[in-house]
Amino acid sequence: MRSWNSSISGRGLLVVVVLLMHLGVAVKSQLSSDFYNSTCPNLLKIVRKQVNTAIMNEIRMAASLLRLHFHDCFVNGCDASVLLDGSDSEKLAVPNLNSARGFDVIDTIKSAVESECPGVVSCADILAIAARDSVLLSGGPSWKVLLGRRDGLVANQTGANNGLPSPFESVDEIAAKFAAVGLNLTDVVSLSGGHTIGLARCATFSTRLFNFSGTGAPDTTMNTDMVTDLQNLCPQSGDGNKTTALDRNSTDLFDNHYFKNLLNAKGLLFSDQNLFSNTSSQAGSTTKALVESYSNSSKLFFQDFVNSMIKMGNISPLTGTNGQIRNNCSVVN
Ligand code: HEM
Ligand SMILES: *[C@@H]1O[C@H](CO)[C@@H](O)[C@H](O)[C@H]1NC(C)=O
Ligand SMILES: *[C@@H]1O[C@H](CO)[C@@H](O)[C@H](O)[C@H]1NC(C)=O
Ligand SMILES: *[C@@H]1O[C@H](CO)[C@@H](O)[C@H](O)[C@H]1NC(C)=O
Ligand SMILES: *[C@@H]1O[C@H](CO)[C@@H](O)[C@H](O)[C@H]1NC(C)=O
Ligand SMILES: *[C@@H]1O[C@H](CO)[C@@H](O)[C@H](O)[C@H]1NC(C)=O
Ligand SMILES: *[C@@H]1O[C@H](CO)[C@@H](O)[C@H](O)[C@H]1NC(C)=O
Ligand SMILES: *[C@@H]1O[C@H](CO)[C@@H](O)[C@H](O)[C@H]1NC(C)=O
Ligand SMILES: *[C@@H]1O[C@H](CO)[C@@H](O)[C@H](O)[C@H]1NC(C)=O
Ligand SMILES: *[C@@H]1O[C@H](CO)[C@@H](O)[C@H](O)[C@H]1NC(C)=O
Repeated sequence: MRSWNSSISGRGLLVVVVLLMHLGVAVKSQLSSDFYNSTCPNLLKIVRKQVNTAIMNEIRMAASLLRLHFHDCFVNGCDASVLLDGSDSEKLAVPNLNSARGFDVIDTIKSAVESECPGVVSCADILAIAARDSVLLSGGPSWKVLLGRRDGLVANQTGANNGLPSPFESVDEIAAKFAAVGLNLTDVVSLSGGHTIGLARCATFSTRLFNFSGTGAPDTTMNTDMVTDLQNLCPQSGDGNKTTALDRNSTDLFDNHYFKNLLNAKGLLFSDQNLFSNTSSQAGSTTKALVESYSNSSKLFFQDFVNSMIKMGNISPLTGTNGQIRNNCSVVN
C-alpha cells in the first residue's frame, strides 16, 4: 500500500518536474523581436529617430541611455523601475544620484511612441531599444532586441544600492553581483566594455589618485602619466562632480579601445582596471584572459557584447498580465 502510494506520488512528481521544465523553456523565450509587429509596427523607427536626435543634440546621451538599461535590469529585472519617481525611487540610490541621466530623453521617446501607439509599448522595452540604438549609432554592433517586457509597479532603492556594482569593488565582488542576476564572467567583461563610451565623475575614481587604500601613494595599477593628468583634473577636495572620459582614447566611439587601455594601465575606474590587473583569484585570471582577447579582436568583443546584452535584457522580465504598460514612465498608472 505504502509503496504503491509513493510510486504514484513519484510519478506525479516526475510529471510536475517535466511540466516545470517546459515552463522554464517558455519563460526563457517569452520575449520576442516581433512582439509589437501588429500593435506598433513603426516602433523601432520611432525610437531610432528619437535616439538619433538626442545623440545629435548631445553625443554623451548614447552612453547615458545604455547605462540606464543596465541600471534598470540589475534592479528587480528589466521592468523600468529605474524610471519611477517617489520616496523609494532608484534615482536617489548612490549609484544613480547626480549620475544617472537621460530620463528626459526616455520621456520624449515615450511621448512619440504614445502618440502613434497609445497604451501598448512598455517603458522597459523603450529602454532596451534605446540602449541598442545608442550602441549602434556610436559605431558598435547591432542586434535584434527582444521585446514584450511590461513595467513594474515598484521601485527598489535598497535593491539599487545593494545590487548595482560599485567602482570601488574588486573583480570577485563585481562577479558576485553579476552572478546574482544570472550573468557570468564573460558577461562581466564584455558588458564592462560599455565603458568604451561616456564619462565618469572624479568622485568615482579620485580615491586612486593620491593616497590609495592608505598606501600614501596613487594606485600602482594606473599609468603614472594618467595619474598626473587626473590629479590636475581632480585635486583633493576639488569638485567631485567634474567629469572625464571612461575611454580616453575614443570617448564617443563604441570600439574595443577600453580593453587596450586596460592592458596599458589606463582604465579609469578601479573596477575596470581590476578586471585585468588582479589575478589573485580564479575569477581575476579568467577576466584578464577575456580582456586580452577583446583587446585583440573587436569582432569577438562585439559578438560577446551582443550576447551579453540580450542575456542582461532577459533578467526577470514581467510578461503576460504581470505589471502594466505605464502611461508615464515616471509614475505607475
Ligand atoms: C562592471 C561593473 C560596473 C561598474 C562598477 C560601473 C560603474 C560606473 C561608474 C562609477 C560610472 C560613472 C558614473 C558617474 O560618474 O557618476 C559608470 C558610467 C557608465 N557605465 Fe558603468 N559600471 C559597470 C558596468 C556597466 C555596464 C554593464 C554598462 C552597460 C553595458 C555600463 C555602462 C556605463 C556607461 C555607458 C557609462 C557612462 C554614462 C554617461 O556618460 O552618462 N557600465 N559606470
Ligand atoms: C515582424 O516584422 C519584421 C520586420 O518587418 C519581420 O521581419 C517579421 O517577419 C515580422 N514577424 C511577424 C510574426 O509578422
Ligand atoms: C528589492 O531588492 C532586493 C534585492 O536587493 C529584494 O530582496 C527585495 O525583495 C526587493 N524589494 C522589492 C519591493 O521588490
Ligand atoms: C584582488 O581581488 C581580491 C578578490 O576579489 C581582493 O580581495 C583584493 O583586494 C584585490 N586586490 C587588489 C590589489 O585589487
Ligand atoms: C557565460 O555564459 C555563456 C552563455 O550565456 C557561455 O557561452 C560562456 O562560455 C560563459 N562564460 C563563462 C566564463 O563561463
Ligand atoms: C594615507 O592614508 C592613511 C590612512 O587613511 C593615513 O594614515 C596616512 O597618513 C595617509 N598618507 C598620506 C601621505 O596622506
Ligand atoms: C554634485 O552636485 C550635487 C548637486 O548638484 C551636490 O549635491 C553633490 O554634493 C555634488 N557631489 C560631489 C561629489 O561633489
Ligand atoms: C588611440 O589609440 C591609437 C592606437 O590604437 C593611437 O594611434 C591614437 O593616437 C590614440 N588616440 C588618442 C586620442 O589617444
Ligand atoms: C592576438 O592576436 C594575435 C594574431 O591575431 C595572436 O597571435 C595572439 O596570440 C592574440 N593574443 C591574444 C591574447 O589573444
Ligand atoms: C509624468 O509624471 C511626472 C510625475 O512624476 C510629471 O512631473 C510629468 O509631468 C508627467 N509627464 C507627462 C507627460 O504627463
